[in-house]
Amino acid sequence: MNSTATQEELVAGRGYEALFVPAVFQPWTRHLIDGAGVKEGFHVLDVACGSGVLARHALSISGTSGRVVGIDSAPGMIAAAREIEPAVDWILGSAEELRFGDSVFDCIVSQFGMMFFSDRHAAASEMFRAIKPGGRLAVAVWNSIENNPAYGDIISVLDEQVSIAAGDALRLPYSLGDSKEVTGIFDHVGFTDITVETKTEQATFPSSRTMVEAELRGWLPLFDIHLTEEKIADVLVKSDGKLSKYAAQSGEAVFPTSAHILTAHKPQ
Ligand SMILES: C[S@@+](CC[C@H](N)C(=O)[O-])C[C@H]1O[C@@H](n2cnc3c(N)ncnc32)[C@H](O)[C@@H]1O
Repeated sequence: MNSTATQEELVAGRGYEALFVPAVFQPWTRHLIDGAGVKEGFHVLDVACGSGVLARHALSISGTSGRVVGIDSAPGMIAAAREIEPAVDWILGSAEELRFGDSVFDCIVSQFGMMFFSDRHAAASEMFRAIKPGGRLAVAVWNSIENNPAYGDIISVLDEQVSIAAGDALRLPYSLGDSKEVTGIFDHVGFTDITVETKTEQATFPSSRTMVEAELRGWLPLFDIHLTEEKIADVLVKSDGKLSKYAAQSGEAVFPTSAHILTAHKPQ
């Protein structure tokens, strides 16, 4: 894994932090912090930390007597995270191969990364290995697309106006909507007292166009789907009708998002 982010990757990481974190991800951190029972002095690991919103929240609680580590496989995310909060130990690496000793962390948190892991069982098994006996885990995954209708609307625009492959790229984050599947993964590797709570939070984008454009320019290229400027303009116009129902008076796009919060223990 190349440890240095290119300028383009850094810009993408900063862009994620500037747009998606306040719009979608920030409201969820409290559920993970509460679910994992983060306390002052704790040694916390955030797996798939992105630009670090959850790790920063953990740091604000664990304080100077604790230690927070964030790991992510995207160099641009790690570079952006490091710019914002140097007091967290940011590590470029993969969830499937955590480069930490056994039984190191008081708790492990992971917010909206699990759907992207190439080997979810390996990642869960690594979390089990790295957490202390009695330690607590909290993991967030998006509920199914039927329960996240605003993204369902964008997907239908992509299916119709771009391609099914483009729609599939946006279906991926919602692929672990069956909470039994997630529970089964953590149960299989040895976690106990597993609970799943389904919660709703509000997402707020500056406008529906900002939201769709970010997917067209930022997300689809990760799946090798590159649209011309003409096509982007066309898709944005077509998406206006479908997404107008989320427009607030301010012009912002406001809609509910639904996710499962799984918590579990490593037995003593
Ligand atoms: C939707 S973002 C969530 C980031 C962050 N947890 C947050 O709430 O803002 C998903 C993150 O998972 C990371 N990711 C995907 N696969 C990964 C893997 N196998 N190991 C580590 N990180 C991974 C991506 O790089 C990305 O930063």
